[in-house]
Amino acid sequence: MERWFFTLNSYDFKGKRLEDIQAKILVADDDNMVRTTISKILEMFGYEVTTVSDGKYVADIIDDSFDVILLDIDMPGMDGFETIAALNGCEHDIPVIFLTGAGSMDYAVKAINLGAYDFLTKPIEDLDIFNVKIRRAIEKRIFIRREYHYKRELEDDVRAKAAELEETNKLLLTYSHSLENATVQLMSSLQNAMEEKDFYTAGHTMRVTEYAVLLGIAMNISEQDMVILRRAAQFHDIGKLVIDLSCIQKPGKLTDEEWVLIRKHPVIGANIIKPLGFMEKEQFIIRHHHERMDGKGYPDGLTGDKLDQLTRILMVVDSYDAMTSKRNYRKNMNMNQAVIELNNCAGTQFDKECVVAFSEAIVDFTATGDAFFREYLDNYKKLS
Ligand SMILES: [Fe+2]
Repeated sequence: MERWFFTLNSYDFKGKRLEDIQAKILVADDDNMVRTTISKILEMFGYEVTTVSDGKYVADIIDDSFDVILLDIDMPGMDGFETIAALNGCEHDIPVIFLTGAGSMDYAVKAINLGAYDFLTKPIEDLDIFNVKIRRAIEKRIFIRREYHYKRELEDDVRAKAAELEETNKLLLTYSHSLENATVQLMSSLQNAMEEKDFYTAGHTMRVTEYAVLLGIAMNISEQDMVILRRAAQFHDIGKLVIDLSCIQKPGKLTDEEWVLIRKHPVIGANIIKPLGFMEKEQFIIRHHHERMDGKGYPDGLTGDKLDQLTRILMVVDSYDAMTSKRNYRKNMNMNQAVIELNNCAGTQFDKECVVAFSEAIVDFTATGDAFFREYLDNYKKLS
């Protein structure tokens, strides 16, 4: 008799045509005669056959390579019903055909209810019906395999697409960071070039940035906040660049008109930063670095509860540098005098917590020297 192969035209997941694969059938029956007979018939139809004498052996040898299981009901160790219950709990989705004695319709119904795909009556009298039932079970198995294969391909596809998307996102993020850094560098270069015209302003920006990082470390702010604080400090007086230099560099006291002009620099600075889009927090800090805790500062007269920690930090370190810097029209304070002044103004002009932390940090920084300085520099470089 001609050997029967799968009828569906398709390819399995290993690249072979399914019709070229020899179906593999497991027969479990305690009757040696039945096993031998069924095995010979199946082999005659061209199937590969494995036989066992009890249901308990099915679980031991079953794997995904089998296509159909023929299961006797009455077996001494583990009967057909127990065996199919055990098979239902494993991952192999292999159609089970029960072998029942003639007239055991109750058994057949019970088997179907337990998840059997079909049933065959023993002894086998009609080989055509027998083969049709086996072929149908094999086609069912092909369908299951194809569905599994399709699902797996789909999952692989989704995984690959997700990985591709993640890679693209990483690249975009890298480009975005590079663009941000390039913009900040460019602004910094422009600012430096313009600041060179005024020695005091140039030194002031650099020192305020270093003090801000020092106080940021002392107050244990996050790395993310440190980047924001550093940028805000770096550009806090950028608004002064568009104000007439003769006003900024004027030796002696400013007139009321000149003060009005100078006081515009926080707003001008924030407006310069605004179009960049990625420095919103820095923009806020720059606009409000001359506010006071009691609301008597400028430009908006905000009180302390409206000012965030980073702005409060910059308010302290900016003023400290102003107090300790030499100007040709007044004498500068030394560190101790400035720290006393900061503490005198804590709660009214400055945030108390920032003043306490900065007083300790700046004194330690000056007194303990190298050890602290090294740690400070490492952090500073990491953020540069
Ligand atoms: Fe300022």
